[in-house]
Amino acid sequence: MTRKATITGVGKYVPPKVLSNYDLEEMVDTSNEWIVQRTGIERRHIAAEDTPCSELALKAGKRALENAGLEASKLDLILVATVTPDMPFPATACLLQQELGAGGAAAFDLEAGCSGFVYGLSVAEQFIVSGTYDNILVVGAETLSKIVDWEDRSTCVLFGDGAGAAVLQPAESGGVLATELGSDGSGADSLYLPAGGSLNPSSHSTLENGMHYIKMEGNQVFRFAVKIMGEASLRVLEKANLKPEDVDFFVPHQANTRIIKAAAKRLKLKDEDVIINLPEYGNTSSASVPIALQEAVESGKINDGDILVLVAFGAGLTWAAAVMEWNKGGR
Ligand code: UT7
Repeated sequence: MTRKATITGVGKYVPPKVLSNYDLEEMVDTSNEWIVQRTGIERRHIAAEDTPCSELALKAGKRALENAGLEASKLDLILVATVTPDMPFPATACLLQQELGAGGAAAFDLEAGCSGFVYGLSVAEQFIVSGTYDNILVVGAETLSKIVDWEDRSTCVLFGDGAGAAVLQPAESGGVLATELGSDGSGADSLYLPAGGSLNPSSHSTLENGMHYIKMEGNQVFRFAVKIMGEASLRVLEKANLKPEDVDFFVPHQANTRIIKAAAKRLKLKDEDVIINLPEYGNTSSASVPIALQEAVESGKINDGDILVLVAFGAGLTWAAAVMEWNKGGR
């Protein structure tokens, strides 16, 4: 029998501080109406100044482990998907390993922009299916509030902070049925953070020129996203020998309701089958898919046997999709 990988526990954490569209009206030249109409976002959660990404990851990770009934000491691998690590190195996953008390578990960060969690899910699946590991924690955690320019209305209204996590373990059936990863580096300059790496090491000049903030060509990313979310979903379903009508729930990256609706239309999905929590959290990058998944599971929407499509796009540009048969209790 083929060994499969399934999610046996999910967890999320969002910081308590809320920043509403009305708060943003006081900060930049924007309006609640513009933000809601163009993006669907109503508010976002913001981490405290002294809260690093690893703290959000820890809280979400602990909850996922509890939900899976697994002790941290049993973990073989910890994978953190993030574009806002605590530091360029060491990996935030190593900080998390220490905080969780996860023995000598292997740990590394994965950077695939907002597609990071779904990339991580695919990597974890390979380790489990190959028989290398049994217990893997995949976390998508972000503190984007720390890298947005709060004077740039074209980006600061979009993003929020949070973390979502999933425990993956072996299963005899169901679980991850297929994944699809991809990238197009020709779009690297449509969403990036210029400074802080070897190209533009942080200096007075990078600071003065605001190069430590997210830069984005929103329209270019939008066009890419509308195309790729539908295409990647259809391709991953084909790999799993499934059709759009087999999908019970669509769990997309939460960037913009217009992008999500265009992808859902391509798959001819009903509104109630599409998981959207964007109004509450904004775009939490690699945390958005696992937070949406956790909420849909906790609310009782998603149950064993359901077919899910998880799909994301992000900086890189990257995309990632996974089709799963939910099998949390069916190990
Ligand atoms: O996870 C991946 C991260 N990136 C994304 O998901 C971004 C994908 N892109 C988008 O979601 C959309 O492109 C945006 C929401 C960023 C922008 O929406 P849009 O419909 O593409 O607007 P636009 O950029 O074409 O701007 C339309 C107008 C412009 O004014 P003019 O030039 O028409 O006078 C902007 O200056 O809206 C203006 N604008 C704003 N107005 C009020 C841009 N941002 C704001 C704002 N409030 N916050």
